[in-house]
Amino acid sequence: MKPVKIGLLGLGTVGGGTVNVLRRNASEISRRAGREIQIYRAAARGKCTCDTSGIPLTEDAFEVVNDPDVDIVVELIGGEEPAKQLILTALANGKHVVTANKALIAKHGNEIFAKASEKGLMVAFEAAVAGGIPIIKALREGLTGNKIEWVAGIINGTCNFILTEMRDKGRDFADVLTEAQAKGYAEANPTFDVEGIDAAHKLTILASIAFGIPLQFDKVYIEGISGVTRMDVSYAEALGYRIKLLGLARRTEQGVELRVHPTLIPERRLIANVDGVMNAVLVKGDAVGPTLYYGAGAGAEPTASAVVADIVDVVRTLTSDPENRVPHLAFQPQSMSDIPILPMDAVKTAYYLRLSGEDKPGVLADVTRILANQHISIEAILQKEPHTGETHLPIIMLTQKTLEHELNAAIAQIEALPSINKPVKLIRLETLG
Ligand code: HSE
Repeated sequence: MKPVKIGLLGLGTVGGGTVNVLRRNASEISRRAGREIQIYRAAARGKCTCDTSGIPLTEDAFEVVNDPDVDIVVELIGGEEPAKQLILTALANGKHVVTANKALIAKHGNEIFAKASEKGLMVAFEAAVAGGIPIIKALREGLTGNKIEWVAGIINGTCNFILTEMRDKGRDFADVLTEAQAKGYAEANPTFDVEGIDAAHKLTILASIAFGIPLQFDKVYIEGISGVTRMDVSYAEALGYRIKLLGLARRTEQGVELRVHPTLIPERRLIANVDGVMNAVLVKGDAVGPTLYYGAGAGAEPTASAVVADIVDVVRTLTSDPENRVPHLAFQPQSMSDIPILPMDAVKTAYYLRLSGEDKPGVLADVTRILANQHISIEAILQKEPHTGETHLPIIMLTQKTLEHELNAAIAQIEALPSINKPVKLIRLETLG
């Protein structure tokens, strides 16, 4: 049988890793795919991160997507444009697509998949979420008998690395970020990592596949880790919790919660012990119960592992009837649900609160009265002894589950107390039980 011809767009970290994996494991991969996979040509600007000998190169990616001999376009450029135009052109030219582009799928996936379905083509995107962890495959196929109740993921390696180093070594935020950039984990624009945008792209994709809803990136609540202090990390630890940047998608009777934010997780949970650059996704299905997927969420070869798996998947289905393929978003396009995404005000969760209260009698009584009036129960309180000369001291409270709008009302009243001299610090808490 003739080899399948790949047109590779981008030879950066992931592109270079993909060339290396395809070459090193060529024999193993073709035994699985049933055909040889040939890197027919590639488009790259700047320095390539791999040995490109024998691969015809161009700087013009449109040459590759318009080449009639290319069977599968593998887009590893990233970003929205020109990646979107390149993929739409490849589809218009009848080529299947493999991409690692989470921003593109999260924001334009509905349009891209509609175009692909119209043309009977595949767009595979395993590498877009959690790097080398086959979470798309697991959710879309392995768990297909389940009603998925929720998905919770540590899906940004850079943030996890930063939070782990802050906790373990007391390192500085900026210093750890520089290391993550040097290692190739961080996004081209690292605010995408630390402000939670990258995790929100990935969560958008996971939620869509888990619940059969359209991709709705603009409805995700996003809060990054730049406001997390070493003080909060150590108070959380004293109370038996770890702080992680968590992406959470939960189905409730009122709608779907879709949120990315720093989160306290009980340290006894396996996912709370996922450290460094590693990713993990916890999925709760009604039949299977909780399942946990762990592995490298970034880096050249871990991400290439997912890209190559997608290439093999596409090769295997080249001759199959498009109607009988696994749907892009797990559910048949005509059976997508329009269940609403809940605003944060309507989300119910538990909270960590850090108050700065005057060191005098009655302050705690005032605060607890306000919480009680808003029907908020307290789970735990931690108060540190004042250092000499300090007039205010931190009071840490964990609440039981409450509606966020009730908590916000309580916080407004607490901040108005004369004995409270700083804004209340709020971090959400999930038991993931
Ligand atoms: N910047 C991402 C991360 C890379 O840190 O997880 C993988 O998507």
